Amino acid sequence: PSCVLAYSGGLDTSVILGWLQDEGYDVHCVYVDVGQPCEDREAILKKAHDCGAKSARIVDAQEEMCRDFAFPVLQWQAKYENIYLLGTSIARPLISKVCLQVCREVGADAYAHGATGKGNDQCRFQLAAEALNPDIKIIAPWRIEKFRKAFPGRTELIAYCEQKGIPVKASAAKPYSSDENCLHISYEAGKLEDPNVCGVDIVDFGMTVSPQAAPDAVESVSIQFEKGIPVGVNGKKLSPLQIVLELNKIAGRNGVGRIDIVENRFVGMKSRGVYEAPAMTVLYHAHQTLEQLTLDRDLVNLRDRLSPEVAQMVYYGFWYVSKMDALLAFIKEAQQPVTGEVVLGLYKGNIINQGRTSPNSLYDEAIASMEGGGSYNQTDAEGFLRIMGLPSRVQARARARKY
Ligand code: ARG
Ligand code: SIN
Repeated sequence: PSCVLAYSGGLDTSVILGWLQDEGYDVHCVYVDVGQPCEDREAILKKAHDCGAKSARIVDAQEEMCRDFAFPVLQWQAKYENIYLLGTSIARPLISKVCLQVCREVGADAYAHGATGKGNDQCRFQLAAEALNPDIKIIAPWRIEKFRKAFPGRTELIAYCEQKGIPVKASAAKPYSSDENCLHISYEAGKLEDPNVCGVDIVDFGMTVSPQAAPDAVESVSIQFEKGIPVGVNGKKLSPLQIVLELNKIAGRNGVGRIDIVENRFVGMKSRGVYEAPAMTVLYHAHQTLEQLTLDRDLVNLRDRLSPEVAQMVYYGFWYVSKMDALLAFIKEAQQPVTGEVVLGLYKGNIINQGRTSPNSLYDEAIASMEGGGSYNQTDAEGFLRIMGLPSRVQARARARKY
């Protein structure tokens, strides 16, 4: 039998590559590039081949991830449990899609990944894969007791590599585990498991400086949107990926985009996570600022009621389902007027609104103005409040409130 392995070149998936062969599989390695740190692509392919992979390839999915996954989620203003911008969650269904494309191409009927049985990632990989091909066999070695018995810890993983001649990079063991793509870096586990330990003291942040180390001057940045999609930065038209990379630099050097939370995993446990997502933090803010100008109140209210649901679906891994198709169609329609420009000031981790303009603005100074002579007739409020207050007055007559 043959299988496709979502391969990172790291310790875990290198061992899994060897183990799958021990189990009798022909293994096709796929490194889906979502912007994880990678010094040497050639070295990753060579390593896979040296370790006996039937084939190995790198597929660059960064642009697609930003365009078709991150930006629609941004349009939804979706944040898991109100805070987390879903940087890891968003990448998983796409990684599965790319791997299943390779399964089809090479005729593999199984898909293997290195996520543990305790986390969210296994859910996302598997739910996405099965939604695309209900017949696919999922191999998650960390859920197989035999595998866990053989590899109870890092020591055994390294020993296996040495025995099989698999090169292991003597990476300095970090006091936590991290997951990086162009949208964000997550930090979890290890020393961060104590929620009372300050994350900043433990984590070596890769995308942001600390607010204290950021410049003492406000840096202005303008972001252009068309129909709720970011299309440019500082007046320059850019692709979705370029926008994310550019804003990562700008926001990162101003200390914007760090969070530290305790979140509820899909599998039920609470988990402490530290994240940095500089570009996406700025984009969420800018997008919402432009929506304030361009979207009707009732429409925004409806979107905001559904948004936590979208965040939960993304977090759990329900991307390829009809409910999500419908939600994505809804948001595309709802975002039609969200065109214009937002200017933000970034300063030591803060985001300051400096300006917003739109050809579709619903904001009418003549109506809002506190100055006299506008088109709003204050006498109209008289009847409006008589009617709005009617039920309360009736209740008050029936049963008096103490005051
Ligand atoms: N808790 C975050 C999430 O569920 C980050 C997960 C990080 N994954 C990892 N394999 N390190 O989206
Ligand atoms: C893992 O368990 O593989 C990482 C953490 C997670 O998926 O939540």
